[in-house]
Parts: sequence; C-alpha cells; structure tokens
Amino acid sequence: MMRHVTILIAEDDRETRQLLIEYLIQEGYEAIGVQNGQEALSVIRNQHVDVLITDLKMPKLDGMRLLSKVKKENQRIVVLMITGFACVNSAVRAMKLGAEDYITKPINFEELRIQLTKALEKQSIKSENIILKKQLKDKDVFGDMIGKSELMEKVFQLIEKIADADSTVIIYGESGTGKELVARAIHYNSHRRNKPLVPVNCGAIPEELLESELFGHEKGAFTGAHKTRLGRFELANEGTIFLDEIGDMSPNLQVKILRVLQQHEFERVGGVQSVKVDIRVIAATHRDLEKAVAMGKFREDLYYRLNVIPIVVPPLRERKSDIPLLVSSFIDKFNDGKVKAISDISGEALECFLKYNWPGNVRELENMIERLVVLKCRGVINVEDLPEKLTVDLKESQQHSAGIPSDGTSFSTMVTNFERQLITQALQKSNGVKNKAAKLLNMNRTTLVEKIKKLEIQ
Ligand SMILES: Nc1ncnc2c1ncn2[C@@H]1O[C@H](COP(=O)(O)OP(=O)(O)OP(=O)(O)O)[C@@H](O)[C@H]1O
Ligand SMILES: [Mg+2]
Repeated sequence: MMRHVTILIAEDDRETRQLLIEYLIQEGYEAIGVQNGQEALSVIRNQHVDVLITDLKMPKLDGMRLLSKVKKENQRIVVLMITGFACVNSAVRAMKLGAEDYITKPINFEELRIQLTKALEKQSIKSENIILKKQLKDKDVFGDMIGKSELMEKVFQLIEKIADADSTVIIYGESGTGKELVARAIHYNSHRRNKPLVPVNCGAIPEELLESELFGHEKGAFTGAHKTRLGRFELANEGTIFLDEIGDMSPNLQVKILRVLQQHEFERVGGVQSVKVDIRVIAATHRDLEKAVAMGKFREDLYYRLNVIPIVVPPLRERKSDIPLLVSSFIDKFNDGKVKAISDISGEALECFLKYNWPGNVRELENMIERLVVLKCRGVINVEDLPEKLTVDLKESQQHSAGIPSDGTSFSTMVTNFERQLITQALQKSNGVKNKAAKLLNMNRTTLVEKIKKLEIQ
C-alpha cells in the first residue's frame, strides 16, 4: 500500500492549482492548495507536509523566499519549484537553495509523477538514515538517554570515564530522573557488556523473599525449596548487579550486602559453602543516604562501601534546556511510525512545558507526551490540548498583561491572583523550602507562611 503523503501546492494561478490538486488526489496523494507563500508557510507550521510544490512568482512571499524559509524551518520537506518554460537561471538557483527538482510550465504530468516518486524515495532514505545513525550512536554510548544540557553532558562524561572500571557506583536522583538508564549506560559501556546486567528492586521485593532472591537457596533450605536455586548475585556473575532503591533495604540485609561488597562471596540460604562471584555493583536511590545514615536508618559502613563513585542525576527542572529535545523524541517514540501522526508541538505549548516544574521529572514528561499523542492522534500539539497544570502560568500571565478589560475588573482579585502566582513560583523554585522561598521574594518567613495559609496554596 502506498504511504500516505501530503502535498502542499502554492500557486497563485487558480487553474494550474486546481489541475495539480485534482491530478495529485487521483494519484492517491493528499493535496492542499494555497495562493501564496505566506499561506503556505502557515500550513507548514501547523500541519504535517511531506512535499511542497511551489510556483516561483507569487504575491506576498514568492517561491524563492518561501523555499529558503522552509529549508530553514523544516529540512525534511521536499520542495519542487515550478518555473517558467525558459527560466533556467531560477531553476538553478532554486536547486542551490535546496529544492529537490524543478517543474517547467506547462506542466507535464507524466514527468511530475516520476519526479515525485524519485523525490519521495530519496526523502525516505534520508530519514531512515538519520534514524539509523541515531540508533547506532545510541547503542554505542548512552542507550536511549537524551540530554544536551551542561548538567547532563557532565553526567555523560562521568559515565564514559568510569564505565570500564570495576568500582562500585551509586546513582542519586529524584524519582523519574533516569537513574536506571544511567545504570544501563554504565553496564553497556563496560567490558562486562556481553555478560548479564541483573536488576534487583530492593524496595519492591518483600524482605522474607529478598534474601533468597539475592543469594539463592539450597534444596530443602525451607518449606517449598524443592531444588537449589541461584540468586541474583550468582546470575550476575561476570556481569553487573543493579541494586535499585537500595535506601529501602532492611538493616538485616544491609549487613549481608556489605559482606558481598567486601569479600565478593556469600552463602546461599540454607547453605554452608561460600560462593565466590565476580561482579560489578551499581546501586541507585532517590533517598538522601547521608541523611538516612545520620538518622540511623542506613549503615554507615555500607554507605562508604557504596559511595565510591557517586553520580547525581539532576532533576528536570534544573536542566530545562533538555525539554525541547525530550519532547520531540517522545513525540517520535509514541507516533511509532504512524503516518497520520502528531507532527509537532506549537511554540506556545512548548513554552508551557518549559515553565512547568516537572516534579515527576522525565517520567512525568514522557507520560504526558504519550497521553497527548494518543488523545490527539494527528496535527500539532497546541496549548488547548494541555492539561491545566501546564497552562495555569500562561493564563495568569495573560490576565496580567491584558490590563483592565473595558467592563472593569476587581482590583483585589487581580492582586490576590498575582500574589498567588508569585508565591507558587517561589515555592517551586525553592523545592518547597519556605525559608528559601521567602528569601527569593525578599519577604519575612512568617508573612509568607501567613499568605500561603490565607491563599490556600498547596
Ligand atoms: N535522559 C533521558 N532520555 C530519555 N528518556 C529518559 C531520560 N531519563 C529518563 N527517561 C525515561 O523516563 C522514565 C524514567 O526513567 P528511570 O526509570 O530511569 O528513572 P528512575 O530515576 O530510575 O526513576 P525511579 O526512581 O522512579 O525508579 C523511563 O521511561 C526512561 O526511559
Ligand atoms: Mg528506577
């Protein structure tokens, strides 16, 4: 079956435009006609277009200027330029500016058909190449991890530096920041990459089971132990074990883990013989382990054993410059090769993404995009598609900049709204620490607390 291809025709001559549209539709394409470059540009900005066929001479924005704008904004769109019969010069210029081909008037439809097929083939090879290259690069280095911010660049550099050593690594970071991806990147960049990476979620397995889960058991060790079973430490031999949520591990098990880290040996449950293993340990936690140590909830000796190479994955709100890249890669991911798909996100909507605080970090962003792509199906994600938590700021700032409406307003309501906005922002910026928020606003802490109460800010 033919791929669904959308062709935009920018042509001021009504008859030619109509002829082209009819022909293209009959050929199975989706065709849209506009009268000038300006209109073409707005269509391209608002919906998915594969090919632009544009006339050279048009009112408002002519073909050549349209071409150079399109090439700047969207490399992927194939452009075919319609030129007058004897206008070789402009044809050459158009090709130099990035047009794929040119069509002479009067239009020879048979020729156009061939030109289109060729151009589309080339385009799909080009985009496949981009995807392929990206995948190769990703596999080699950082899995599916995306980030261009300075903070993430530092994380990437650190991963590269320490991956091949056998030292224990502990990854700190809030929930959803990508700790597991970091662990994977380390393993797959190490000399152990062809051996297993065995994850254990220390917080999710019930304590009674965790010990046999980690160290395995001998036949008959307890009721129901019908045969000897290998634990995760043994399964990870020669590879890497990933102890996720290590901060949630019981004190009893902390002792046992400590011993494995120190001696690289342990006994299976119900066993007497020591089992020796060659493993690299990567741990992760969203907790502040130092604090847990101070509170007596985490063993100090284990903490020092683990804290050999600490890696801190910063929360998304501290690296907002990664948001555009994450958004577009998640859109691609959830479009999942569908042709009638979400083509883009509007500038205003992206602005809302940048303003929001993302307490659930990359996971929250990923889930949000998945929901938007599923609900919207196609076109461009606009502000109207976003849930309220993302647009609150925008609406409020519009209210303020709108000034006083002609039918008047309530002074106190507007001031209260503005107060609420400022305080919410300050609290977000300071992670909910009131002292810091008060400082940001140059305000007394007590005044702030009173206002929070009065304005019922969560
Ligand atoms: N830099 C990134 N690039 C692309 N996707 C990311 C990135 N960071 C996180 N993700 C995605 O976000 C989700 C959460 O990541 P991950 O499970 O690694 O977080 P975590 O820190 O382990 O969270 P938790 O503490 O809740 O277990 C995953 O689906 C992951 O693929
Ligand atoms: Mg995790």
